[in-house]
Amino acid sequence: MRHYRATAEAHPNIAFIKYWGNRDHALRIPSNGSISMNLAGLVTRTTVVFRPDLPADRLILAGQPRTGQALARVVRVLQRVRQWSALAWYAEVRSDNNFPTGAGIASSAAAFAALATAAAAAAGLSLSTQALSRLARLGSGSASRSVPPGFVEWLAGKSDAASYAVSIAPPDHWALADCVTIVTQGHKAVGSSQGHRLAESSPFQAERLATAPQRLQLCREAILQRDFAALAQVVEDDCHLMHAVMQTSSPRLLYWEPATLAVMHAVRRWREEEGLPVAYTIDAGPNVHVLCPADHAPAVRQRLEALRGVQQVLVALPGGGARVVEA
Ligand code: DP6
Repeated sequence: MRHYRATAEAHPNIAFIKYWGNRDHALRIPSNGSISMNLAGLVTRTTVVFRPDLPADRLILAGQPRTGQALARVVRVLQRVRQWSALAWYAEVRSDNNFPTGAGIASSAAAFAALATAAAAAAGLSLSTQALSRLARLGSGSASRSVPPGFVEWLAGKSDAASYAVSIAPPDHWALADCVTIVTQGHKAVGSSQGHRLAESSPFQAERLATAPQRLQLCREAILQRDFAALAQVVEDDCHLMHAVMQTSSPRLLYWEPATLAVMHAVRRWREEEGLPVAYTIDAGPNVHVLCPADHAPAVRQRLEALRGVQQVLVALPGGGARVVEA
C-alpha cells in the first residue's frame, strides 16, 4: 500500500555570484541570476508524511515543533505540491541538519531543497530537476540552487515557470574547497528575506544589477576552465558589490564583525604577498567562506584557525544535488 512518505537529503550552497533583491517577493523571482557550489558533507535530511488524520501541516525542526514564519514558508511549498498532485491531506515535516543550526551556515537552502524533493516524492509526483528547483525556490530563493548537483546557476527568469537553477558542471569537475570560517555562532539580526526587500533602497543596487550579467559570464567561464585566479577576482568583486548595497540601504545592514575583517585582510595578504590561491566571500552574516583548490585546504584551514576571533573552520568540497533517500 502507498504510504505517502518520503525522505530526502540536500546540501547548503555557497554563492559565488550573489542573489540579493527580488523582482517578485511573493514568488521569489530574483532581480539577478546567481551562481553557487553545493557543499558536500553538510546535509539536511527531511521526511514528509501526508496523513488523512492531520488537522493542519506540522513542522518539527531538530526535534522542536515550529510555528509562525518557519511553518508558513513550509506550508507554501506543501500547498504547491497539493495543487500539483490533487492530494488534499496535510503533512508532517521532520527536518534535521548534521551541522549545528547556530553555526552560522545558512540552512534554508538545504532545508527547502530537501523539503521540495521529499514532499514531491511523498505525494507521488515525479518531477524534473527544473520543476523541483522552482518548488524549492518558493520556500527560499537560494534553495533553488541546492536542487541540481555541483556548480549551479539560477536563471533569474521573469516568471514562476522561467525561474529555476541548472547545473553548470558536476561536483567532480573541479576539486574546489570552501573553508567555512565561523567567527560567531549568533543568529543574524536581519535575515535574508527581510534584506531582499531593502536592496532597492540602495543607490548602488541598480548598478549592481546592470553589471551582473558580465560577472555571471566571467564566473561561468572561470568554473568551466577551472581558472582559480579569474574565479577569485569575480567572486570578491561580487561579494563587495552586494555588501556595498547592504551597507547603503535604509536601514543599513552591516554584517561584518572585527573578525570578519581580520579574515578578509589575511586572505588578501596570503594571496598577494605569498601567492596562495585563496579568495573570500561573505553572505548575510559575519562568517567568511574562504575558497581554495582542495589540495591547499589543509594548510589554509590551519592558517585560518590560527587567526584571532576564528571559532571553527569546516571544509566542504563540491556536493551533489537534492535526492530522495527513502520512499
Ligand atoms: C546573501 O535564499 O536566504 O546568501 O529567499 O528570503 O530565503 P530567501 O533568501 P535567501 O538569500 C540568500 C542571500 C545570500 C546570497 C546568496 O546565497 O545568493
